[in-house]
Amino acid sequence: MTAAAGLVLSTPAAATDRGPGAPGIGDSYFPNHGNGGYDAKHYSLNLDYQPGADLLRGRARILATATQHLTRFNLDFLLKVDSVKVDGRPATFARTGLHELEITPARALTRGQPFLVEVSYADTPSKVPVPDETGGFQPWIATADGALALGQPQVAWWWFPSNDHPLDKATYDITVSVPKGTQAITNGIKVKERTSGEKTTSTWVMDKPMATYLATLFIGQLEVRTGQSNGLPVVTAYSKDLGQYEAAAKESIEQTPQIVEWLAGSFGRYPFRSMGGSVTSALPGFALETQTQPVYDPRFFRAGPDTYVVVHENAHQWFGDSVAVKDWKHIWLNEGFATYAEWMWSEKLGEGTAAEVADYFYGLWPAEDEFWQVKPGDPGAADLFHNATYYRGAMALQALRVEVGDAAFWNIVKTWPTVKRHGNAETSEFIALAERISGKQLDAVFDTWLFTAGKPATSPNGTAAATAKAAGGEPASVAKIKAVHELLRHTK
Ligand code: TRP
Ligand code: ZN
Repeated sequence: MTAAAGLVLSTPAAATDRGPGAPGIGDSYFPNHGNGGYDAKHYSLNLDYQPGADLLRGRARILATATQHLTRFNLDFLLKVDSVKVDGRPATFARTGLHELEITPARALTRGQPFLVEVSYADTPSKVPVPDETGGFQPWIATADGALALGQPQVAWWWFPSNDHPLDKATYDITVSVPKGTQAITNGIKVKERTSGEKTTSTWVMDKPMATYLATLFIGQLEVRTGQSNGLPVVTAYSKDLGQYEAAAKESIEQTPQIVEWLAGSFGRYPFRSMGGSVTSALPGFALETQTQPVYDPRFFRAGPDTYVVVHENAHQWFGDSVAVKDWKHIWLNEGFATYAEWMWSEKLGEGTAAEVADYFYGLWPAEDEFWQVKPGDPGAADLFHNATYYRGAMALQALRVEVGDAAFWNIVKTWPTVKRHGNAETSEFIALAERISGKQLDAVFDTWLFTAGKPATSPNGTAAATAKAAGGEPASVAKIKAVHELLRHTK
């Protein structure tokens, strides 16, 4: 589902409206991510995985609609492909560029035509090299007893062919076969499971639109817990090697339902039909807001139970998952909100108000620090997950709150994920909404906090630079929030 068809149609290769689909969807930071010429509606994935050998066999059926006359179109994918069919007829395919699978159907597709692409593949994903442009992070991690697929902005290339950009969300059903005694966790609701012979096969359904990078697969000999919260299924999964982190991890992750309920109080009803969380030692740091089923590194819980990271990843279910970016440059709409949710949690726990935490972080980086050179409203591809995207993005929200007052602020924060639910968004739309609700002209606030390099002269609360940090001291939550963010972005 492409929320902004205009963006797809305006990409150069699609401009002819007849011929091959563009090899990129038109993202300003990642021009070759996603593709043009069609709109993916549903992915039906049938996977078989052999742990140890790291052998993944798959058949992906993708239901899509052509948005132009198409002689040829691309999917993004890195694994070895055996065959491709379009509407049941064998199609020819070729590899081009870094991660393009170029498909030529036997017959050209007409604009508006629904079509079914079927891709059969088998490979050892951990052996597939990571292209340089990804910064070296390996999104497919094979373990002794399973595997984990997790990455942002790219991960699908290692496990299913897709139109790999958040702009083209789709629904999913994912069927996974693993050896008996091994568990597979993916997004949404498990609707079926059966063991026959040496294999256990489960089918999961994600019935709400999902961006490709939010799909995850977690396979291993896991401890899986199931429950319910307000009628919604809850699934939590733990690898069995969490060791010293096990108790604190469980104590934290098992609070997901209460945290989601608390978040819904500010952000409006939870957008999905299930929730949960997975913890695995396979990760080199990181947590990710994979839809309904965030994944966490156990080291978030090294100093004992920590709910800040659980708040962060679940806030993303509204900001990032339900409301996804139209273009990666709008990433602060995800990270700024998820970070602000931590500051709200600090206030709720009595560990410092959001205003105090905002002032603290404003004071933390001196004016000459490189932190202030990155503009959260346009951080650049290399700095997508820079501290500024998170902390200065959250400061922008605090500055907005001070400018419009609490009543208008909470109205904005609840209305945004409600009007944009299951869609895509960009910063200008958020500013327009904030202006409409508050009745104020807000260009100056957003220019200062999102789009201007350099440290603003006063803190998000309007406090003078020299006194901002000293005035409040260090809120009790700060050490925990810092620890979360160091591991989240895997930086010091
Ligand atoms: N979006 C993640 C978060 O803030 C952080 C993240 C960025 C990440 N890139 C990643 C996590 C790659 C895992 C893999 O929660
Ligand atoms: Zn985040």
